[in-house]
Amino acid sequence: MAVPTAATLAFLEHSQSLVDNELKRLLTASRSPSSRLQKAMEYSLLGGGKRIRPALCLGAAQAMAQDAQAALVPACAIEAIHAYSLVHDDLPAMDDDDLRRGRPTVHIAFDEATAILAGDALQAAAFDWLSEAPRLTAETRVAMVRELAQASGANGMVGGQAIDLESVGKRLALATLETMHRHKTGALIETSVRIGALTAQSPSAEKLAQLTQFAQALGLAFQVQDDLLDIEGDTEVIGKPQGSDAARDKPTYPALLGIDGARDHLQQLLDSALGSLREFGPEADPLRAMADFVVARSH
Ligand code: IPE
Ligand code: IPE
Ligand code: MG
Ligand code: MG
Ligand code: MG
Repeated sequence: MAVPTAATLAFLEHSQSLVDNELKRLLTASRSPSSRLQKAMEYSLLGGGKRIRPALCLGAAQAMAQDAQAALVPACAIEAIHAYSLVHDDLPAMDDDDLRRGRPTVHIAFDEATAILAGDALQAAAFDWLSEAPRLTAETRVAMVRELAQASGANGMVGGQAIDLESVGKRLALATLETMHRHKTGALIETSVRIGALTAQSPSAEKLAQLTQFAQALGLAFQVQDDLLDIEGDTEVIGKPQGSDAARDKPTYPALLGIDGARDHLQQLLDSALGSLREFGPEADPLRAMADFVVARSH
């Protein structure tokens, strides 16, 4: 398995620290009167996580020659949606997993009702933060709110999660599997890049289309690697139960194409993602680094 390069890790670590600090600030600024709920939100949002979506958002702003600072609060809003999706994804009614990022999942550390509410509240917080993001015009903020709402909802992540749960135990056609992945994981990754690019206020349609293509290929690649790690990873390293997909008979790429087939597909998706950036110069290097990380990651 390839290993992420030092340059890749440097960009990711830099954005992780920016994002972690800002998430802490945002979450403390809007304290809940329920300290149990507040603690569950902090547990979910501040307890690790690779921060891939925020890094893509900051990287896309950079690719459009923008000051990445303007993308910071939007990046945190996207991460809040991601964190909420994981809290709900792990619930007994969904994947029923008890380990996430090497720690008990929220419904285990707290209780099921608190996990449901923490997810609900993180979702609302995302739109609250985004609607007040500094350094952006009101028009850009509204455009970003719309992007994030569409990517999260019935036509985005939640729609994909619904297909995932409806498909348990079924052998999906490749096209259906791809539709599921594009929604459940791809949509939020695509929107991370698009929202970063929207910090340019009126980005060129051509560049936005190229970045969108990049993100679509990368979003699919991300879930193919997630599926491979469920088979080939170690629980210790991936921080979530290895074999969870197989145990629940989940529709995955390796289940349909085999491990080698899934790996070939992953490489094709990486080539296609990088190809979409061919007209960009070094300003898109952070995005290129993130693409390498997504396929080479071990957790
Ligand atoms: C895991 O996402 C869930 C999927 C969409 C497959 P990540 O691998 O980005 O999770 P964290 O945030 O780093 O834990
Ligand atoms: C779904 O994918 C990710 C979400 C939309 C939350 P998985 O169910 O494969 O994610 P993990 O493996 O539990 O992180
Ligand atoms: Mg799931
Ligand atoms: Mg899961
Ligand atoms: Mg998975």
